[in-house]
Amino acid sequence: MAPLQSGDIERILIDRSTIATRVAAMGEEIASDLELATGADRLVVVPVMTGALVFAADLVRTLPMRLRLELLEASSYPGASTTSQGVTLSEGPVGELTGAHVLILDDIFDSGRTLAAVKRLVAEHNPASVRTAVLLRKLVERAPDVSPDMEPDYVGFDVPNEFVVGYGLDHDGWYRNLPDIGVLGQSD
Ligand code: IMP
Ligand code: MG
Repeated sequence: MAPLQSGDIERILIDRSTIATRVAAMGEEIASDLELATGADRLVVVPVMTGALVFAADLVRTLPMRLRLELLEASSYPGASTTSQGVTLSEGPVGELTGAHVLILDDIFDSGRTLAAVKRLVAEHNPASVRTAVLLRKLVERAPDVSPDMEPDYVGFDVPNEFVVGYGLDHDGWYRNLPDIGVLGQSD
């Protein structure tokens, strides 16, 4: 059997208990903002698959209001690449977003292109409001075609410009199940 995958991690950047504490605080902040700003008592949460799966599963369980989940699939790192190759959104139908208060979730904000593309798609459905939350935001320059108003409304942690995995984030599809977020070691 292959060695335990946690051995591939060079160092842990954010451990599971730090993640849990922060995700709970984000949930409280989002819930109270939504109620204050819109009086909304229901929400449509749109996690960007597959990276946001674990974050979304934890975050929605901290949100007390009535909510629906509508999954969207995006990919920008085909195969084992670690540099973005441009965003592809899945063509599948998106559930009813018209007039809804929408919360888009993603694992990490890097060039900003994924969130910008998802926001554009959601906006085409004329929602009542759109908010965005990401677990991680990389401290890098955004892509030149991504405007500053695409910065996420809620950010769990700012992270350095390194390729990170775990808690939903993958490399070539692997490592999503690691409970902590870590930096991959150099493979040979
Ligand atoms: P952006 O479009 O460049 O902002 O990239 C966002 C998407 O790329 C995220 O949804 C992630 O799935 C993926 N991504 C960006 N950086 C990393 C990383 O360090 N590890 C794993 N996935 C990443
Ligand atoms: Mg992703």
